[in-house]
Amino acid sequence: MTTPLHLTARRSRPLSGTTRAPGDKSMSHRALILGAMATGVTDIDGLLEGDDVLATARAVAAFGAGVERLGPGRWRVEGHGGFRQPAGVIDCGNAGTGVRLLMGAAAGYPITVTFDGDASLRKRPMKRVTDPLADMGATFEWLGEDDRLPLRITGGSPLFERTFRLEVASAQVKSAMLLAGVNAQGGVQVIEPVRSRDHTELMLAAFGADIRIVDAGQIVETLSVDPATGQERRGTVVNAERTIWLERGKLTAASVSVPGDPSSAAFPLAAALIVPGSQVTVEGVMLNPLRTGLFETWREMGADLTISNRRAAGGEEVGDVTARHSTLKGVVVPEGRAASMIDEYPILAATAAFAEGETVMRGIGEMRVKESDRIALMAAGLRACGVEVQEEPEGFIVGGGPVRGGATVRTAHDHRIAMSHLVLGLAAGEPVTVDEPAMIATSFPGFVELMCGLGADIAAST
Ligand code: S3P
Repeated sequence: MTTPLHLTARRSRPLSGTTRAPGDKSMSHRALILGAMATGVTDIDGLLEGDDVLATARAVAAFGAGVERLGPGRWRVEGHGGFRQPAGVIDCGNAGTGVRLLMGAAAGYPITVTFDGDASLRKRPMKRVTDPLADMGATFEWLGEDDRLPLRITGGSPLFERTFRLEVASAQVKSAMLLAGVNAQGGVQVIEPVRSRDHTELMLAAFGADIRIVDAGQIVETLSVDPATGQERRGTVVNAERTIWLERGKLTAASVSVPGDPSSAAFPLAAALIVPGSQVTVEGVMLNPLRTGLFETWREMGADLTISNRRAAGGEEVGDVTARHSTLKGVVVPEGRAASMIDEYPILAATAAFAEGETVMRGIGEMRVKESDRIALMAAGLRACGVEVQEEPEGFIVGGGPVRGGATVRTAHDHRIAMSHLVLGLAAGEPVTVDEPAMIATSFPGFVELMCGLGADIAAST
């Protein structure tokens, strides 16, 4: 399909059917990067073939890995035990995860690399990653504005051992530290006050890294030496915050099976919740508890959401998720849940617009530094569709009720803003149009076809 200028969603008949979400974006980036850092052949299936991940595939090829597409979602990466000097600029497109994880990995090799991205990625903060990497011994040069791409990094080889305590609950920052830690003398220790998605930890373990995780509240043994007597003392303490220890080491290739992305599954499921008479099942959705905050929240809102066929696949739990049209009520989303659904607030806000009463979403300032300022853009888009929204510095409150629609929404290069408003349009009184539909392919190639296959009325418009 050639990309249309705009897409318009219209009030739809009931949606029904069974489908699959594209492969998980977070795991897809990590599988390619770890495959390139490791020695040997990593076979991946279920890889998300969205633009973000394809940019990472090109990047790891530029870093010297053999990268081959064997079939739909089936990729083979031949790693040579590290990154080599690339010839040109590493362009990560729209992908924050891609660039931040690749910088972490590249920091541990004796190479000099220029990273860049599209207009949206050039607006996103990078110091949250470059500061700790610089502390470990990598050097950085801002080629444009401070804290922004493009930038040049020279790896420190080896890097120094460090202990970091994460200031923001960011899996991207944590992952950059861990990937650099693979090549740090003495490794790295990361303390995580608020848990964020743990795919990097799980995958590093699968690739043979020496990694140990002690959760908050877990009892750990201690060993100390009495300075006066020289005697060893053994004891126990309760670990206060989740702590990850990673030793320096070599990675060995492993096969990765990527399950369906819960962040993408959210869109057809949301459509089923708000379009009367609908029932949709998305099969093979990853159910890592650090990713399923949206499902929990929808349930609290009264959503008829069921999960069946729970099983283990690719080191993660997966299941088939069914959503039926539901009468939703507004809720206060617990702030502590933010990290487990940070990418899902736009689609939560779209469904909240159809609920009875207000939905309060706070403690989500991080949303302002995603592919766009997602609080501002969701507030503007929803208001344009007749929804009451109160915007706050670190959150927003969405009023529920019948949604008028009848607007063209500005998405500012943000795939999730586009998909959220298209879903909203399926149950709104009047059509909803979004600009820049091409961006949807960053995370959900085939979104329009999949939605239309379930009965959604989404079509090109000028
Ligand atoms: C991601 C982490 C999240 C999320 C992003 C993917 C990851 O970002 O928003 O889409 O794969 O690690 P932060 O970790 O910066 O919150």
